[in-house]
Amino acid sequence: MSTVQPTPPEGVDTILILDFGSQYAQLIARRIREAGVFSMLVAPDRPAAELAAMRPKGIVLSGGPSSVTDREAPRCDPAIFDLGVPILGICYGMQIGCQILGGTVEAAEAREFGRTALRIEDGGDLLAGLPDRTSVWMSHGDQVSGLQTGFEVLASSETCPHAAVRHLGKRFYGVQFHPEVTHTPHGGDLLRNFLYGICRCDASWRMSDFLEAACERVRAQVGDGRVICGLSGGVDSSVVAALLQRAIGRQLTCIFVDNGLLRTSERELVERTFRDHFEADLRVVDASAAFLGDLAGITDPQEKRRRIGHRFIDVFKEAAEGVGGAAFLAQGTLYPDVIESGHGHAGTAAGIKLHHNVGGLPEELGFELVEPLRDLFKDEVRALGEVLGLPSAVVWRHPFPGPGLAVRVLGEVTSERLEVLRQCDEILLEEIVANSLYRSTDQTFAVLLPVRAVGVMGDGRTYDSVVAIRAVETQDFMTADWARIPYDVLATVSNRIINEVRGVNRVVYDISSKPPATIEWE
Ligand code: XMP
Repeated sequence: MSTVQPTPPEGVDTILILDFGSQYAQLIARRIREAGVFSMLVAPDRPAAELAAMRPKGIVLSGGPSSVTDREAPRCDPAIFDLGVPILGICYGMQIGCQILGGTVEAAEAREFGRTALRIEDGGDLLAGLPDRTSVWMSHGDQVSGLQTGFEVLASSETCPHAAVRHLGKRFYGVQFHPEVTHTPHGGDLLRNFLYGICRCDASWRMSDFLEAACERVRAQVGDGRVICGLSGGVDSSVVAALLQRAIGRQLTCIFVDNGLLRTSERELVERTFRDHFEADLRVVDASAAFLGDLAGITDPQEKRRRIGHRFIDVFKEAAEGVGGAAFLAQGTLYPDVIESGHGHAGTAAGIKLHHNVGGLPEELGFELVEPLRDLFKDEVRALGEVLGLPSAVVWRHPFPGPGLAVRVLGEVTSERLEVLRQCDEILLEEIVANSLYRSTDQTFAVLLPVRAVGVMGDGRTYDSVVAIRAVETQDFMTADWARIPYDVLATVSNRIINEVRGVNRVVYDISSKPPATIEWE
């Protein structure tokens, strides 16, 4: 994880979100960005002066799992209410705001979870344009029970008399419900009222503008230095490479390592996209023999990962030295990797990634990092990829693990078994795309199992391999459910694999969710 404190991009109106640990904190940031305004999460206890230095147009106080009546609960600097910047408190954020401004917060008589009817009493500013009665998503135990003078009630619900409040003098607004979730149908209107009506933001967060600003930043950082970008064929590194190609053209060298563990046509797609279309200086290193040599006789998954990781570093290092004079290394670090949080989200995420970090490069290589996607969420990276003109096969690509097919050929990895899996995977993806299921599933692939099964083909008995199909739906790849692929599609995939791929006589469908299973089999 990076230790650099994120700062808002130059010249872009920014909303700061003080993250009190809500499961929805990132969602608030995304909703605000979708509405056209840049937003970022910061630790809740940052001093008001530091927040002011980032020149926010508004501040949002997120929800959180604690109770403000608890002495240990996270707090914010009370001086933020003297900055003259509009503040919107959501759930816990409302409670802490009201408490600081003299209100009382107590455990509610009836805890409220789920969809609740809201009655609007003042449709002036925050709730402008909302119907008098609408439904909102509540999830709270405590609520604001007493309000000081200066406060006005904007809306209430059956059990929550202060469901939305305003303190005009302090420019503070509080809502007990969650406008950021889709279960609050007019939540987007409320956020837009806050952003545009109250904070007077410009809709300055557009991918095309971001692209120009990001190119400027890269040029300012690297001057006339040479930059190396490791291309994996995945979305993030492809977007980084396309962005850098646009920003610095011939100062960029892309390195693609063919480790012999790729899917059919993967290398060709990278070559076509970057060499032919973007005219980038692309160096393809064919190191498949070395990788396959390292894997000979190895069946343990972690040992496979370890060997692949080491070999990758050696190969990449040698290729980078061959470029000569490069001082910078580009990386596709995304916003969720660098989020500053008082509650260790980033730390936890980083811990989980470590085990996956095969294909990552050690800092000791001595390059200065160029990370043009550090401000972006994954869906924004895809939007940027489209603005850059990357083909949709790249922009919408499912994730593919660094160790590639080695962790999908269970047991020993040989070129013959890799070839069998490649053919199965290609058929599967053809059918998934043909049936418009590629965008509705988040990761779909085939796995070659280390077991053989008896079958009958024509008049003969067969004793061949079993292939598993895995398709999952997931938001964040930390949890996942198996996709309900229609039986007809599964039937076609199974028939085609068994008929077209020699050496496979049985196809099974994986119906395990994560947890307790993982997405990959190894
Ligand atoms: P699991 O199998 O842990 O996978 O549920 C979660 C996500 O991570 C990917 N994955 C990896 N990515 N190197 C990577 O770069 C790895 O060793 C690795 N193992 C799993 C997996 O494909 C899924 O998207």
